[in-house]
Amino acid sequence: MDKIVIKGGNPLHGSVQISGAKNAALPVLASALLTEGTNTFQNIPDLVDIKTIKKLLISMGAEIEGEQTVKIKVDKITSHTASYDLVKTMRASILVLGPLVARAGVARVSLPGGCAIGARPVNLHLKALEDMGAHVELKNGYIEAKAKKLKGANIYFDLTTVTGTENIMMAATLAQGTTVLNNAAREPEVVNLADVLKGMGAKISGAGTDVITIEGVTSLKPTKAAIIPDRIEAGTFMIAAGMTRGEINVNGCNPNHLEALINKLRDTGMKITPIKNGLKVSAGKKINSVDVKTIPYPGFPTDLQAQMMAYMSIGNGLSVISETVFENRFMHVSELLRMGADIVIQGGNAIVRGVPRLRGAQTMATDLRASASLVLAGLAAEGTTEISRVYHIDRGYETIEKKFSALGADIKRVRQ
Ligand code: UD1
Repeated sequence: MDKIVIKGGNPLHGSVQISGAKNAALPVLASALLTEGTNTFQNIPDLVDIKTIKKLLISMGAEIEGEQTVKIKVDKITSHTASYDLVKTMRASILVLGPLVARAGVARVSLPGGCAIGARPVNLHLKALEDMGAHVELKNGYIEAKAKKLKGANIYFDLTTVTGTENIMMAATLAQGTTVLNNAAREPEVVNLADVLKGMGAKISGAGTDVITIEGVTSLKPTKAAIIPDRIEAGTFMIAAGMTRGEINVNGCNPNHLEALINKLRDTGMKITPIKNGLKVSAGKKINSVDVKTIPYPGFPTDLQAQMMAYMSIGNGLSVISETVFENRFMHVSELLRMGADIVIQGGNAIVRGVPRLRGAQTMATDLRASASLVLAGLAAEGTTEISRVYHIDRGYETIEKKFSALGADIKRVRQ
């Protein structure tokens, strides 16, 4: 297993190019199940999760070519099953459920188990499919869903669910009649998917608000579309600039998708200004401690909570970080403590007392974003930090060590 080794203390300088968004690319690739003919998707990031969804789609009959630009054709669905082996490595495999039921009338998808950041059930996806007339059963660890033809319905999500909104939006494109998704997720990735579906001929309005209306059509045609930039990758680099007392250009990001973070980072003393192709981000003279609460978009993203906590661990005061989206997303705390951070967890809150500096240590990645927080901590720390189990990072960050190294960090991957 590879590990990442960082000698901390170098301020970051230069420019970084942001890749396509993992969380937009996954549902967009899954949406190819809805059409015959060749879809072309551009700006697909080179990530392990993308390889996993490609493998899953190929197992269902997809023909796929290309990496950054992916051509994908599913003229015939040859299997309706998403196996346990694939779903257990990537929960987002659940995104094939809606498109499969809509196009083929049947789907068998392994029920995702728990994961490092909580129980993460998919009950809301299943309830919505039932509301649309599907017969849903759980058998031997698999979700079995059947519907000759899905019917439009008025859906109320009890909680805002990103992949739930995406799954049901895809299913509703080929349903009979109109579906209304109430309390829908407003994430930019949902809007990206809606735009792709509209390019296929779907009739969707309201994406980006909490009420999305989908008028079913009888069939969709293939399309060509690009994936939006990854706001979480961009945010990770922005926080890194603040933590290392550096100044970088974050190119290719969409500042509109980063407003909650930009505001928070300005409160910490950082300077952030728009430039032609993205944002110029500079550390402030000191790091003011701020409170952070994760909330669905447009609130502060849970996927940047761990990175923000690493930053606040070297702030000049007290910071309360509240996690309201996932119940167990503080796995990074014990690793940050090993680097000298002062953090206490009280229920869904982490109380972070800033320390003057972190010190390098051997650490272990526990999930994707927790691993990113350890990389940031290592970049800012005194001495050497080792991060093992980096396969978690490779799921969601494209060549993270190369991008940081090009910004002047002393970081390398050691193959073991
Ligand atoms: C997506 C993102 C993930 C991000 C998360 C929240 C992808 C591929 N992943 O995950 O990176 O951290 O949004 O922004 O886009 N819930 C239920 N029942 C359900 C569905 C969700 O109780 O049927 C709960 C979850 O346990 C969680 C909350 O709702 O507490 C939000 O989860 P959700 O938005 O569904 O997360 P994902 O779509 O899995």
